[in-house]
Amino acid sequence: RSTLLIDSFNRLHNYLRISLTERCNLRCQYCMPEKGVDLSPANHILTTNEILRLIRIFTTYGGINKIRLTGGEPTIRRDLIDIVHGIRSYPSIKTIGITTNGVLLHRLLEPLAQAGLNSLNISLDSLVKEKFEFLTRRAAFTRVLTNIRLALDMPNLYPLVKINCVVMQGVNTDELNDFVELTRDQSNLAVRFIEYMPFSDNKWTERKYFPYEAMLKIIKQKYNLEKLHQEDKNDTTKWYRVKDNSYQGKIGFITSMSEHFCSTCNRVRITADGQLKVCLFDNKEVSLRDALRSDLNDEEIYSLIQRTLYKKEKEHLPVNILPTRENRPMILIGG
Ligand code: GTP
Ligand code: 5AD
Ligand code: SF4
Repeated sequence: RSTLLIDSFNRLHNYLRISLTERCNLRCQYCMPEKGVDLSPANHILTTNEILRLIRIFTTYGGINKIRLTGGEPTIRRDLIDIVHGIRSYPSIKTIGITTNGVLLHRLLEPLAQAGLNSLNISLDSLVKEKFEFLTRRAAFTRVLTNIRLALDMPNLYPLVKINCVVMQGVNTDELNDFVELTRDQSNLAVRFIEYMPFSDNKWTERKYFPYEAMLKIIKQKYNLEKLHQEDKNDTTKWYRVKDNSYQGKIGFITSMSEHFCSTCNRVRITADGQLKVCLFDNKEVSLRDALRSDLNDEEIYSLIQRTLYKKEKEHLPVNILPTRENRPMILIGG
């Protein structure tokens, strides 16, 4: 059998998403349950060294070449720069990304880039202050917008900034075209509209779910869109641009619900408390924390990872069953 991370459906996994913390400085309704979450005991959260050891195992044995740091909110981890710096020392890692809410970016944009970060995704679900603050249950709108602007003004450090916008019917569907408008004269910006997915206690309902086709319909009423060629076969995004030379940025759609992309899935996940999760919607987890803290050597830990991945399901459950499947809340997975 190959030494790489290939599952029983012959999917090669080369993208590791690792959650750095269960905490967040916002409380987005679609991610953080209203009642909060029970945090893991502090000593269950992986340390800097454990994270770097795991990544080394994944990259040297498993051929992982892309890492994305998630959370909770990854920027609240004090050792963030050390982690990025550590990852950069592994030569086979080509992409080091972060998915952040942007609140703390003003003091991190330069140090992160210097440490080796080269992919930046920022969540932003509304361009209306009151709505943003209702959705995130915190007053951070101006800060986030300022920080997105700061990032966009550093094209040498961040050649493509992606904005992630989770679309919810009756919440922000009236803003789709305002988001598209951000791509005018902004070649280093990509706005991605994400279908709202169900996770434990995240208020998902069929009524709030707003599919890709419906988004396209609204946008096409105002803009002439050009579909772009899919450059990366594992990309989860369907890319478009406004067919007009003054619109230099891109827009995209992540259609996890209406048209899933499981057949080209190349992603594995580690939660902040060290559980290996082979699919966003899979609740069978394996503790890499226990493995790291046992007397297993790197090769044995890798073998455990390989065996777990081999059991990955073909695709997630049908969307009508998905909301009833027990899973972690999003805040404890990392997206
Ligand atoms: P890029 O490296 O820029 O492609 O980032 P990404 O899209 O992989 O990561 P990001 O954290 O920005 O995630 C954007 C959205 O895609 C989030 O809503 C994620 O939950 C969702 N997403 C990422 N990976 C998967 C996946 O494997 N399956 C599903 N269903 N959704 C995913
Ligand atoms: N559905 C879709 N996307 C979600 N995200 C968080 N929760 C959900 C959900 N329920 C997105 C965040 C972030 C990314 C990691 O996942 O907006 O950009
Ligand atoms: Fe991969 Fe699971 Fe997402 Fe499908 S639902 S794309 S298998 S992580």
